[in-house]
Amino acid sequence: MAEMLELVDLEELRHQVREKYREVAADPTGAQHPHHFHTGRAHAVRLGYPAHPLSQLPEAACEAFAEVGNPFYWGGPQPGERVLDLGSGGGMDSLLAALWVGGEGSVIGVDMTPEMLERSRSMAARLGLKNIEFREGLIEALPVEDGWADVVISNGVINLCPDKLGVYRQIFRVLRPGGRMTVADICLERPVPEEALRNIDLWTG
Ligand SMILES: C[S@@+](CC[C@H](N)C(=O)[O-])C[C@H]1O[C@@H](n2cnc3c(N)ncnc32)[C@H](O)[C@@H]1O
Repeated sequence: MAEMLELVDLEELRHQVREKYREVAADPTGAQHPHHFHTGRAHAVRLGYPAHPLSQLPEAACEAFAEVGNPFYWGGPQPGERVLDLGSGGGMDSLLAALWVGGEGSVIGVDMTPEMLERSRSMAARLGLKNIEFREGLIEALPVEDGWADVVISNGVINLCPDKLGVYRQIFRVLRPGGRMTVADICLERPVPEEALRNIDLWTG
């Protein structure tokens, strides 16, 4: 079987993914065009997010949450830690991490969709959080220095990247020695046929 990267038109895939999440940023509840996935606080509660600190976030900070799982299943980050969120989207996980780590810690969210960044930055400003920033970039080329993070989290994003090894190399680079990652994502137990890999609608839809 050919390498996944040879089969997928990467630029077109990123374009389509941006288009999809631009729609989610503009219409998080799917009121105008229903999404094919769940969003919002009720979805986070179903995935087992802890009531605290979730209850500290306003509705607007949760409504663009479009996740597949709960990277905090084994517990949140500790006070003072540095957390990096890959594909931070509307920012809910990053905001929760910022509440957990407190003023001595810090959080960076990285995303490639400008409308999602706008949304997450405005939520952080609205909550008055000074320990968080959102950077535009690709998780395959993280705009973060070597060894910066104590914890890397990601939720529902690596499945959208054909170069998974490249992403894991980046995670290894940005984690400090002894750091940890907690990733929630879609995993397949069988190889995907080549014609399905070539079909970008199946990646985004
Ligand atoms: C399923 S959403 C998950 C969002 C987020 N984790 C949350 O808290 O809701 C996917 C997000 O990943 C971003 N994304 C997808 N591929 C990316 C990549 N290669 N680099 C950076 N961001 C990416 C999209 O822009 C989108 O905001």
